[in-house]
Amino acid sequence: MTQPSIYQQVLDPANRANPYPLYAELRKTPVTREDDGTYVVSTYNELYALMHDPRVSSDPRSHPGVDGAAAANQGQPEPTLSFISHDPPEHDRLRELAMRPFGPPSTPGRIDDMRPWLTEITTDLIDKFADKNRVDIVDDFSYPLPVTAICQLLGVPLEDQPRFRQWADGLIETLDPATGSLEERMRKKAEVLADLGQYFSHLVDSRAGQPGDDLISGMLTDTGPHAPLSRDDILATAGLLLVAGHETTVNLITNGMLTLLRQPDVLDRLNREPGLIITLVEELLRYEPPVQMRTNRTTIADIDVDGTTIPKGSPLALMIAAGNRDPSRFADPDRFDPGRTDNAHLGFFGGIHYCFGAPLARTEGQVALSELARRLVNPRLVADPPPYRPNPELRGPRHLFIEYDAVLPARQEAGQAVSPGGSKLAASLQVRAARDESTCMCG
Ligand code: HEM
Repeated sequence: MTQPSIYQQVLDPANRANPYPLYAELRKTPVTREDDGTYVVSTYNELYALMHDPRVSSDPRSHPGVDGAAAANQGQPEPTLSFISHDPPEHDRLRELAMRPFGPPSTPGRIDDMRPWLTEITTDLIDKFADKNRVDIVDDFSYPLPVTAICQLLGVPLEDQPRFRQWADGLIETLDPATGSLEERMRKKAEVLADLGQYFSHLVDSRAGQPGDDLISGMLTDTGPHAPLSRDDILATAGLLLVAGHETTVNLITNGMLTLLRQPDVLDRLNREPGLIITLVEELLRYEPPVQMRTNRTTIADIDVDGTTIPKGSPLALMIAAGNRDPSRFADPDRFDPGRTDNAHLGFFGGIHYCFGAPLARTEGQVALSELARRLVNPRLVADPPPYRPNPELRGPRHLFIEYDAVLPARQEAGQAVSPGGSKLAASLQVRAARDESTCMCG
């Protein structure tokens, strides 16, 4: 039997807890070719160049295996692709229209204004830890926060949010390479998208009649130069935000807590220097990136990379997490340095597909980890390593059980920020969707 390649070993769930030695092995040969024709790229400069190369396509229709999958849809209409799956010029047009209601320069206060509200949710979740001394950081904390944030952003009413968690799980699961062939997954994806699309369709109708201060209303009422977004594009964008912003942020918070509990000196330092949280979250995105690799790219021309010609039509595996620990770019890359400033990590990708939600993800990570660090007395891990979900692309613990001696009271300002709707919010957060086995970020 032939020895599995290093890349195949990275994909093997048995190596999920610590893939970093394998990434170091991969970096010894910056570009390698797998038997199925995939080119694996693992060094910082080469990744950076490909992320910015217009000859690299994100459109699944450029991928050699997709024609058969479309045929397997057996007459079902193809779901509209969201902008993560488009190349320019369509990518840029759709992204710009979604960007305008999301942040500067058109809507400068959007994310900053969410900070008190995020603090309120975080406070509610940690308050519930008070009558126990052991919780699962994933199910009890990291998981509810991002989906609630995205629902708030999109203007989904509180009472509908538990359904959203189920859709998010369903969609993510059907997109996971481990859950079936490409054909099967595309068929199941279309089913979940149809349900989600129906819901969003109603929401769009209600916002069209009565626009609010949410992203869907913003997209509907845009009058900018590239407007309007079609109804299908609005639905696809809303679905994309739900999927792209969910599991990624769960993993940022969970990996963050795991890293802090493994290094109690850093946890103490954070409590002494709260401002450290800004560089600490950036370092997490470098050191334990929630998105470890992207396998959704295809070359649309021959491209020379580090002396290898990658032929037109080749699938790429862009190994973000390997590039983030490349010693030729980062000093002492295997050390978690919460104050690191020379930190142009690839955790949010690069180029035109640079993470759309980065400002929100950063804010969520900063608020969540600061509050956990401040309020839990003597927190400690129950198991190290924790159990991981099998997905190699969106890597994170399935559970992170921790124990602690006590929970300190919420900060006064956080307490004051709790609105009359706070208890309703807390009740909705108690509904926990069944966790899927593994997940994948797709559009
Ligand atoms: C820590 C959390 C997050 C991480 C690590 C992360 C990482 C990434 C990465 C690596 C990409 C590039 C994907 C690709 O091109 O294949 C990306 C794109 C994207 N992300 Fe995030 N993301 C996070 C949170 C969020 C949030 C909260 C949102 C939504 C509010 C979001 C929305 C998007 C969207 C829409 C894209 C597609 C951008 C485009 O194609 O132009 N992400 N993200």
